[in-house]
Amino acid sequence: MLSRKLLNNSIEYLKQQGFENPDVGIVLGTGLGQLVNQIEDQKVAHYNNIPSFPLATVEFHTGKLIYGDLGGKKVVVMQGRFHLYEGYDFMDITYPIRVMHGLGIKNLLISNAAGAVNLDMKKGDLMQLDDHINLQGGSPLALKNIAEFGDRFTDMSAPYDQDMNETLKSLAQKHDITLHKGVYASVVGPQLETRAEYRMLKILGADAVGMSTVPEVIVANHLKLPVCAVSVLTDECDPENLQPISVPEIIEIAGKAEPKLVQLFKGLIESL
Ligand code: HPA
Repeated sequence: MLSRKLLNNSIEYLKQQGFENPDVGIVLGTGLGQLVNQIEDQKVAHYNNIPSFPLATVEFHTGKLIYGDLGGKKVVVMQGRFHLYEGYDFMDITYPIRVMHGLGIKNLLISNAAGAVNLDMKKGDLMQLDDHINLQGGSPLALKNIAEFGDRFTDMSAPYDQDMNETLKSLAQKHDITLHKGVYASVVGPQLETRAEYRMLKILGADAVGMSTVPEVIVANHLKLPVCAVSVLTDECDPENLQPISVPEIIEIAGKAEPKLVQLFKGLIESL
């Protein structure tokens, strides 16, 4: 069960490793690791070495927190996130958000790879999240001892920070980057959707679909931590003409689109 004591174990260890007073927290999505190369004066903590941190699976042995300088700020970056589809629960996957908040971050930036349900959006485009639909069947706030951490009922009327979204929009215009704005639906996965499910997602009002982000955003809102999120659209989910997709292809497309995301995030961090 989540407790202050567990969180403090992680936070104290990271402070000892030199993770002092970060300004910004960043969560990097699948195939989106290039931002890390731009961080100067890095300190690294492997997830498996951080006390009380969720244990990384074999696939995720590379998971690490990186601290350093980017865009004139101190940042802490999660390289490799935890997903429900790996068997983690809502508490595990949002634990690092609470740790980064405990370290002192004032803003949270999230990226992910997602499928485009809105067919005006194309493979390789970026979409900023304006809102979301939680289809993961649970909440990271469904805790018996939630009172230790904040309110029970968290307002979600504006889950994504308007100021950061405005800044992202103007940066995209300045750098001639296509940045859509839309609704992200989160599913558990790991299987991709059927044609009937893509039709359903469209009817529900989703523009994109992915397997992450929403739990982290819910916890950020619980913590009153301003958050923004950008999806890299890696496949077009057209139920009338659905092509089989492969994860290596998703990762390849994410990698190609990533420099645009890095440029936006770097600019945003500079502006904060
Ligand atoms: N569905 C769910 N998750 C995804 C997709 C998708 O089509 N593409 C990338 N992540």
